[in-house]
Amino acid sequence: MKRRDFIGWVGVGGVVSSLPVVMSGCESNPTATNAAPTRADGFQVVGTVAALDNPGGLLNENLAQPVLVVRDPANADTLTAVNPTCTHKGCIVEWQGDTKAFVCPCHDAKFTEAGTLAQGPAEKPLTTYTAKIEGDSVLVNFG
Ligand code: FES
Repeated sequence: MKRRDFIGWVGVGGVVSSLPVVMSGCESNPTATNAAPTRADGFQVVGTVAALDNPGGLLNENLAQPVLVVRDPANADTLTAVNPTCTHKGCIVEWQGDTKAFVCPCHDAKFTEAGTLAQGPAEKPLTTYTAKIEGDSVLVNFG
């Protein structure tokens, strides 16, 4: 084999062997691509029932829009799902079960457990969604 042919052969092989590495680098958010698909009834699995029992509720930021789901301790089947993006300047609100409020860590805006505005500086309520439990899964309809 001539030297020129050899270099050409190694060059093609090098490009082909590096393709998987280059292509995997193009995946923008691998977690988001693994999100459960939206079902025909409009609901999408966002997490597990066990995660609802975290003090801060079930937060999933790996979807088309983030969602925070909490449940009423007095009625475990009653869920509230909100987009936790604060309507003031976009921080992620946190659930405080002791006061039953979504509280923004940035400028202290407060929202009721129904997502309505309780204290500024935000001026609009949180976006709410319908949520339910099926088996071990928590589902939200973002419709
Ligand atoms: Fe939430 Fe300012 S970003 S109160």
